[in-house]
Amino acid sequence: MTPPETQVLISSEDLQARVAALGAQLSETYSASKEAPVLIAILKGSTLFLADLIRAMSIDVVVDFMSISSYGSDGERPGVVRIMKDLDQPLEGRDVLIVEDIVDTGLTLTYLRKRLNERGPRSLRAVTLLDKVARRIVPVDLEYSGFEIPDVFVIGYGLDFQARYRNLSKILAVPDLSALAMEPASLVEPLFGPGLG
Ligand code: PRP
Repeated sequence: MTPPETQVLISSEDLQARVAALGAQLSETYSASKEAPVLIAILKGSTLFLADLIRAMSIDVVVDFMSISSYGSDGERPGVVRIMKDLDQPLEGRDVLIVEDIVDTGLTLTYLRKRLNERGPRSLRAVTLLDKVARRIVPVDLEYSGFEIPDVFVIGYGLDFQARYRNLSKILAVPDLSALAMEPASLVEPLFGPGLG
Protein backbone atom coordinates (compact mmCIF):
# COMPACT_ATOMS: atom_id res chain seq x y z
CA MET A 1 0.00 0.00 0.00
CA THR A 2 1.33 3.46 -0.89
CA PRO A 3 1.95 5.53 2.25
CA PRO A 4 -0.16 8.66 2.66
CA GLU A 5 1.22 11.85 1.17
CA THR A 6 2.75 14.39 3.57
CA GLN A 7 3.84 17.98 3.08
CA VAL A 8 6.26 20.00 5.16
CA LEU A 9 4.07 22.67 6.71
CA ILE A 10 6.74 24.18 8.97
CA SER A 11 10.42 23.35 8.64
CA SER A 12 12.67 22.65 11.59
CA GLU A 13 14.54 25.91 10.90
CA ASP A 14 11.32 27.95 10.87
CA LEU A 15 10.18 26.30 14.10
CA GLN A 16 13.45 27.05 15.84
CA ALA A 17 13.46 30.67 14.67
CA ARG A 18 9.88 31.30 15.78
CA VAL A 19 10.37 29.57 19.14
CA ALA A 20 13.50 31.66 19.73
CA ALA A 21 11.50 34.82 19.01
CA LEU A 22 8.70 33.74 21.35
CA GLY A 23 11.26 32.96 24.03
CA ALA A 24 12.72 36.45 23.74
CA GLN A 25 9.26 38.04 23.79
CA LEU A 26 8.19 36.07 26.87
CA SER A 27 11.44 36.85 28.68
CA GLU A 28 10.71 40.52 28.12
CA THR A 29 7.11 40.14 29.32
CA TYR A 30 8.13 38.48 32.57
CA SER A 31 11.40 40.29 33.21
CA ALA A 32 9.74 42.61 35.75
CA SER A 33 8.03 39.74 37.64
CA LYS A 34 8.91 39.42 41.31
CA GLU A 35 8.90 35.65 41.14
CA ALA A 36 9.71 33.26 38.31
CA PRO A 37 6.68 32.65 36.09
CA VAL A 38 5.12 29.19 36.26
CA LEU A 39 5.01 27.60 32.83
CA ILE A 40 2.37 24.89 32.63
CA ALA A 41 2.81 22.43 29.81
CA ILE A 42 -0.24 20.42 28.83
CA LEU A 43 0.79 16.84 28.20
CA LYS A 44 1.78 15.37 25.96
CA GLY A 45 2.00 17.34 22.73
CA SER A 46 3.54 20.49 24.17
CA THR A 47 6.66 18.83 25.58
CA LEU A 48 8.95 19.48 22.61
CA PHE A 49 7.78 23.08 22.32
CA LEU A 50 8.26 23.59 26.06
CA ALA A 51 11.78 22.15 25.98
CA ASP A 52 12.87 24.51 23.22
CA LEU A 53 10.91 27.49 24.53
CA ILE A 54 12.40 27.47 28.03
CA ARG A 55 15.91 27.19 26.58
CA ALA A 56 15.13 30.24 24.45
CA MET A 57 14.13 32.18 27.57
CA SER A 58 16.75 34.23 29.38
CA ILE A 59 14.94 34.46 32.74
CA ASP A 60 14.30 32.10 35.63
CA VAL A 61 11.18 29.96 35.12
CA VAL A 62 9.33 27.23 36.98
CA VAL A 63 7.94 24.35 34.94
CA ASP A 64 4.98 22.18 35.80
CA PHE A 65 2.83 19.69 33.92
CA MET A 66 -0.83 18.94 33.66
CA SER A 67 -2.59 16.11 31.91
CA ILE A 68 -6.19 16.34 30.89
CA SER A 69 -8.56 14.17 28.95
CA SER A 70 -11.66 14.93 26.98
CA TYR A 71 -14.44 12.47 26.45
CA GLY A 72 -16.52 11.73 23.41
CA SER A 73 -17.63 9.08 21.02
CA ASP A 74 -16.10 8.42 17.60
CA GLY A 75 -13.13 10.63 18.37
CA GLU A 76 -15.27 13.75 18.54
CA ARG A 77 -14.51 16.22 21.30
CA PRO A 78 -17.61 17.01 23.30
CA GLY A 79 -15.96 19.70 25.37
CA VAL A 80 -16.10 17.62 28.53
CA VAL A 81 -12.65 17.85 30.00
CA ARG A 82 -11.19 16.27 33.14
CA ILE A 83 -7.87 16.74 34.91
CA MET A 84 -5.94 13.44 34.94
CA LYS A 85 -2.70 14.77 36.45
CA ASP A 86 -2.77 18.00 38.39
CA LEU A 87 0.01 20.49 39.08
CA ASP A 88 2.55 20.21 41.88
CA GLN A 89 2.90 23.99 42.16
CA PRO A 90 0.46 26.35 43.88
CA LEU A 91 -0.50 29.23 41.58
CA GLU A 92 -1.67 31.77 44.14
CA GLY A 93 -0.09 35.14 43.38
CA ARG A 94 2.10 33.73 40.59
CA ASP A 95 2.47 34.75 36.97
CA VAL A 96 1.24 31.74 35.04
CA LEU A 97 1.71 30.80 31.40
CA ILE A 98 -0.15 27.88 29.81
CA VAL A 99 1.99 26.23 27.13
CA GLU A 100 0.08 24.40 24.40
CA ASP A 101 1.18 22.79 21.16
CA ILE A 102 -2.08 23.50 19.35
CA VAL A 103 -5.35 25.33 19.90
CA ASP A 104 -8.08 23.86 17.75
CA THR A 105 -11.72 24.18 18.88
CA GLY A 106 -10.58 26.23 21.87
CA LEU A 107 -12.51 24.03 24.31
CA THR A 108 -9.44 22.73 26.15
CA LEU A 109 -7.89 26.16 26.64
CA THR A 110 -11.22 27.63 27.71
CA TYR A 111 -11.52 24.93 30.37
CA LEU A 112 -7.92 25.35 31.51
CA ARG A 113 -8.15 29.12 31.81
CA LYS A 114 -11.27 28.82 33.93
CA ARG A 115 -9.84 26.16 36.24
CA LEU A 116 -6.45 27.82 36.65
CA ASN A 117 -7.96 31.26 37.22
CA GLU A 118 -9.81 29.79 40.20
CA ARG A 119 -6.42 29.24 41.86
CA GLY A 120 -5.72 32.96 42.19
CA PRO A 121 -2.75 33.57 39.89
CA ARG A 122 -1.37 37.11 39.67
CA SER A 123 -1.64 36.83 35.89
CA LEU A 124 -2.69 34.11 33.48
CA ARG A 125 -1.60 34.00 29.86
CA ALA A 126 -1.38 31.31 27.19
CA VAL A 127 1.06 30.54 24.41
CA THR A 128 0.48 28.02 21.66
CA LEU A 129 2.85 26.90 18.98
CA LEU A 130 0.08 26.32 16.45
CA ASP A 131 -3.27 28.03 16.13
CA LYS A 132 -5.90 26.38 13.93
CA VAL A 133 -8.21 29.38 13.96
CA ALA A 134 -10.59 27.96 11.35
CA ARG A 135 -11.64 25.18 13.74
CA ARG A 136 -12.55 27.41 16.67
CA ILE A 137 -15.88 26.61 18.36
CA VAL A 138 -15.48 28.96 21.31
CA PRO A 139 -13.56 32.25 21.29
CA VAL A 140 -10.69 32.04 23.75
CA ASP A 141 -8.01 34.43 24.93
CA LEU A 142 -4.64 33.49 23.47
CA GLU A 143 -1.86 35.98 24.15
CA TYR A 144 0.96 34.37 22.14
CA SER A 145 0.92 32.17 19.07
CA GLY A 146 3.73 30.76 16.97
CA PHE A 147 1.98 29.99 13.70
CA GLU A 148 -1.56 30.22 12.42
CA ILE A 149 -2.16 27.08 10.36
CA PRO A 150 -4.94 25.96 8.00
CA ASP A 151 -7.46 23.26 8.87
CA VAL A 152 -5.26 20.31 7.99
CA PHE A 153 -4.13 17.40 10.16
CA VAL A 154 -0.57 17.85 11.40
CA ILE A 155 2.06 15.60 12.96
CA GLY A 156 5.55 16.18 14.33
CA TYR A 157 7.31 18.39 16.89
CA GLY A 158 5.15 16.94 19.64
CA LEU A 159 1.99 16.33 17.65
CA ASP A 160 0.98 12.73 17.13
CA PHE A 161 -1.25 10.39 15.24
CA GLN A 162 -2.20 7.53 17.54
CA ALA A 163 0.87 8.20 19.71
CA ARG A 164 3.38 8.10 16.82
CA TYR A 165 5.37 10.77 14.98
CA ARG A 166 5.85 13.17 17.90
CA ASN A 167 9.64 13.06 17.52
CA LEU A 168 9.83 14.60 14.05
CA SER A 169 11.73 17.89 14.17
CA LYS A 170 9.35 19.55 11.68
CA ILE A 171 5.59 19.84 11.30
CA LEU A 172 4.11 17.76 8.50
CA ALA A 173 0.62 18.11 7.05
CA VAL A 174 -1.27 14.91 6.25
CA PRO A 175 -3.96 15.97 3.77
CA ASP A 176 -5.62 12.53 3.53
CA LEU A 177 -6.01 11.44 7.13
CA SER A 178 -8.30 8.53 6.24
CA ALA A 179 -5.39 6.78 4.50
CA LEU A 180 -3.24 7.11 7.63
CA ALA A 181 -6.13 6.01 9.84
CA MET A 182 -6.37 2.77 7.86
CA GLU A 183 -2.70 2.05 8.57
CA PRO A 184 -1.37 4.26 11.39
CA ALA A 185 2.21 3.01 11.09
CA SER A 186 2.40 3.52 7.32
CA LEU A 187 4.50 6.69 7.64
CA VAL A 188 7.09 5.16 9.95
CA GLU A 189 9.33 3.78 7.22
CA PRO A 190 9.03 6.77 4.84
CA LEU A 191 9.86 9.16 7.68
CA PHE A 192 12.30 7.16 9.79
CA GLY A 193 13.60 4.52 7.40
CA PRO A 194 13.66 0.75 7.88
CA GLY A 195 15.09 -0.57 11.10
CA LEU A 196 12.47 -1.64 13.58
CA GLY A 197 10.89 -4.31 11.40
C1 PRP B 1 -4.31 18.74 21.86
C2 PRP B 1 -3.64 20.01 22.36
C3 PRP B 1 -4.69 20.65 23.20
C4 PRP B 1 -5.98 20.22 22.56
C5 PRP B 1 -6.51 21.35 21.74
O1 PRP B 1 -4.14 17.73 22.79
O2 PRP B 1 -2.47 19.72 23.08
O3 PRP B 1 -4.61 20.25 24.56
O4 PRP B 1 -5.68 19.11 21.72
O5 PRP B 1 -7.73 21.02 21.15
P1 PRP B 1 -9.04 21.89 21.33
O6 PRP B 1 -8.68 23.32 21.11
O7 PRP B 1 -9.94 21.35 20.24
O8 PRP B 1 -9.60 21.64 22.69
P2 PRP B 1 -4.45 16.19 22.47
O9 PRP B 1 -5.82 15.86 22.94
O10 PRP B 1 -4.16 15.91 21.03
O11 PRP B 1 -3.46 15.40 23.44
P3 PRP B 1 -1.88 15.14 23.32
O12 PRP B 1 -1.22 16.50 23.43
O13 PRP B 1 -1.57 14.28 24.51
O14 PRP B 1 -1.60 14.47 22.01
